Amino acid sequence: MTRGYADVLVGLQYGDEGKAKIIDHLAHAYDIIARFNGGANAGHTVRTPLGSAKLAQVPSGAFHPDKLLYIGSGCAVNLEKLAGEIDALERAGLTLDGRLLISGRCIVVQPVHVRMDVLHGSDIGTTGNGIGPCYADLALRMRSECRTVVQLRDLHKNLDLAFGQMAAYDRLSAPCSKAHEADIAATFHRLRAAWTRILPFVTMDDLFLTRLVRAGKRVLFEGAQSLQLDVSLGDQPYVTSSHTSASFAYVGGDLSCHFHRKTIGVAKAIVSRVGAGPFPSEFGGTASASYCARAAKEGTGHEAERARFDPRALLASGDPFELGIALRMLTDEYGTGSGRPRRIGALDVSQLADAASRHAVDEIYLNKCDSLALFPNKASGAIPVFDETSLRWFPSFAGPLNASLPPSLRGLIAHIERRTGSRIAGIGTGPARDDIICLQ
Ligand code: IMP
Repeated sequence: MTRGYADVLVGLQYGDEGKAKIIDHLAHAYDIIARFNGGANAGHTVRTPLGSAKLAQVPSGAFHPDKLLYIGSGCAVNLEKLAGEIDALERAGLTLDGRLLISGRCIVVQPVHVRMDVLHGSDIGTTGNGIGPCYADLALRMRSECRTVVQLRDLHKNLDLAFGQMAAYDRLSAPCSKAHEADIAATFHRLRAAWTRILPFVTMDDLFLTRLVRAGKRVLFEGAQSLQLDVSLGDQPYVTSSHTSASFAYVGGDLSCHFHRKTIGVAKAIVSRVGAGPFPSEFGGTASASYCARAAKEGTGHEAERARFDPRALLASGDPFELGIALRMLTDEYGTGSGRPRRIGALDVSQLADAASRHAVDEIYLNKCDSLALFPNKASGAIPVFDETSLRWFPSFAGPLNASLPPSLRGLIAHIERRTGSRIAGIGTGPARDDIICLQ
């Protein structure tokens, strides 16, 4: 029998590169789509002829009814949100029984983790999902004789004991008040109901993927967040709290690296970042960063910008800060879960080259190439590309894109291939599943 293999797909920038769309496009060539890091902080929108959904924890292959979905031990599970996603997918007509498997070693995001994240995470603009405190508590293990983390398998083994541990840890970390006690009792009640919903999908079999791959199955690992947000390789403290690098798929994904075949990177032609942190190619620099931070704090997003600005006028203004706003509005760059305006910047080719070399990326999908047609035409060249600390300009082109790509876009693709040493396997030309042009 021929043995199977695994490929790993990761974002090369700051997240939101459109990984779900590429996974949806590639899924037919795999048997299992698996997550290995992160939790409800990831947000991906999948649009297919079968329906569309905003998912955070269920792998993006959900709309391919013949694929298995696996949530590996490296993930932090929010019980209520995961139960909600399962319900939403089943309401959309998808059967998950026997298709979705969740490692019993996944850690559980507890109410105390969400409280801590909401209280302290604003310094770096976290998603407020409690992911950072949850991973920190995995490493901490015990505090004042309380276990700080609970895995799904603890709930499986002894539900009352595990909830007792969570309650004890909660008391240790919260001000003692009657209101809080009542609130936490109600929350735990909901968590128990969510656990009942999730239980049928939880597996205690640590060798689940290994067995399938040995039997010939093909796995596509789906990275959450992205390489620039890796907890050690990114710019601390402006990072997420798990490892986002491709190699970590073989820790958090419960499979040996022995089975690795290739690494696929996803980038987008106009870059975005949510939350604070360095973003060298940002249009409008610090003005954009503080404008977006303020908007996130005030909870204003697309509607507010639509009421205030005419994006076509801003596009023509020549001011980089205004260009950023216009591109955000015209390419719909707002947080999937939060609606936060994303900071916008030029494609950073040095960053791609560094990521491709460090993580040995074999091929790259470049999404949102259609957005490049928005740059106003200029004799001097119109598409800004950041490379080796400064901007250079590529000739503009008019949309829409089809298989015979405009020479200027071919030139840009050739430049990226030269700098990264990776093949551009395809380009995204719009939000729909079919809006991809595969390149030879
Ligand atoms: P956390 O992952 O919620 O702790 O947030 C840490 C940083 O990672 C913040 O800047 C978030 O905005 C960012 N982040 C987390 N998840 C995603 C994602 O899926 N896409 C983009 N940025 C993310």
